[in-house]
Formats: sequence, structure tokens, C-alpha cells
Amino acid sequence: MDAPAEPLSVLTDEGVATFSPRELRAMRDEFQRFLLEYQFGLREVETKLGILRDEFLLMHEYNPIEHVSSRVKTADSIVDKVARKCVEPTFEAIRAGITDIAGIRVTTSFTKDAYRLFDLLTAQDDITVREVKDYIAAPKRNGYKSLHVIVEVPVFLSSGRVDVAVEVQFRTIAMDFWASLEHKIYYKYSGLVPDGLLAELKDAADSAAVLDARMERLHGQLHGQKPPQIRAV
Ligand code: GTP
Ligand code: MG
Repeated sequence: MDAPAEPLSVLTDEGVATFSPRELRAMRDEFQRFLLEYQFGLREVETKLGILRDEFLLMHEYNPIEHVSSRVKTADSIVDKVARKCVEPTFEAIRAGITDIAGIRVTTSFTKDAYRLFDLLTAQDDITVREVKDYIAAPKRNGYKSLHVIVEVPVFLSSGRVDVAVEVQFRTIAMDFWASLEHKIYYKYSGLVPDGLLAELKDAADSAAVLDARMERLHGQLHGQKPPQIRAV
């Protein structure tokens, strides 16, 4: 991120404000430090997930995690969200009001693994749960399924402790496959998806849920769990 070499004038609510190159550099540095806290928060949660995965592999010869991806929101997208959610443009207000600057997505094979990892992560002493949205138990009307949690994780800097908000999304491979396609379609149509396509997407979400249930049942049988008895009536 380069700071301009010339003074910069911008229109604010209080009128035109002019910033010197030195002030601009200081603002840029402060913003980079702000984002860095979120990078560190991500690292902490990724480490926790990596430890759980390795322990599971060692103890149970089973890997509950298929894939983990993470990202820190770009500066542009933070600015857009600040405007959209009418958050005061101060670091303090952004920290409190925008909780998905750091985001991690955990893809699991089975629904029960999504819940198991959620439980194991959120039960840890240094993790504080800020908000849970269980779209697996209560899917969105469009068919979206995923388990979301906003946690706060402590990060220890030379200046002391900061608690960083990280959004963690747990979902199965099938839920993830559906969500990434739906996201692409939503963007292609700028949010105005034709009704027929919306109905097809909902139908595809239902098929994904059936597949998830079936795979989990088969997996249970493989590991010696008796399938539920179904009687003809
Ligand atoms: P945002 O302002 O988008 O953060 O919404 P929110 O604060 O109400 O949070 P919510 O937990 O509903 O959604 C957070 C994130 O979940 C989004 O940024 C997406 O990554 C994902 N998500 C939520 N709903 C959908 C959906 O309908 N389709 C897809 N593909 N992803 C979704
Ligand atoms: Mg959000």
C-alpha cells in the first residue's frame, strides 16, 4: 500500500480535509497494524484446528477436516462494509461492528464432524464465543447450510493482549460445493437470480443434504454403527 507523495484533500462530513504525506503514511501504517492483528488471530485459530486434526489422526486414525481456507478481508471490502452497515469509520467501531474481517472456512466430510470441531474449538479456555448462527439446523430459505461462529481469540503483541474476532464457518464438502456455485450465480446475476434458477438451487441444496445423510449413514456402517431399523408399514 503506497502513501501519496503529495498532500491529499478529501471531502468529509465536516468539509474538505487535507492530509500531508506524513499524515497519510501514519494512517497507512496504522491500518496495516490493524489488519495484522487479524492475520495473527487467523494464525491462532488455524493452529488450534491443525492441532485437533493431527491429534484425531494420531488417536483415532481419522481426519475430520477435509480442507481449511482463510482470508483477511481486503481494505476495499472493509470500506464497502463500513459504508453499508453505517459503522463509524474508527478502528474501535470497526473492530466492534465488523466481525468477519478475519474468516476461516473448515470443510468436513460429515455433518457430525462440523459440530464436533465446533464443540472442540469453542470449548477451549481462551476462546470466547460472540455469536453462533446454525444454518445447518435451520438452513436459509435459499438452501444455504453452514455452521457459523464468531469467536474472539487472544493475540499477544509486544504492546499487550488484544482479543481478535474471527468468523469460522464449518460445512461439509457437499454444503461447500453448493455454496460456492450459489455464490457465483448470485454474483453473475448481481443478486437478481431468476426464479427458475432459485428453485433449481433450492432443489440442489436438498439433494446435497440427502447425499450428506446417505454418506454419513454409510460411514457409520463402515465403523460398526448399526443403521436405524426401518420397518415397513
Ligand atoms: P454478512 O453481512 O454477509 O456478513 O452477513 P451476516 O453478518 O448476516 O452473516 P451471515 O452469518 O449470515 O453470513 C456470513 C457469511 O456466510 C457470508 O459472508 C457468506 O460467506 C456466507 N453466507 C451466508 N449466507 C449465504 C448464502 O446464502 N449463500 C452463500 N453462498 N454464502 C452465504
Ligand atoms: Mg457477517
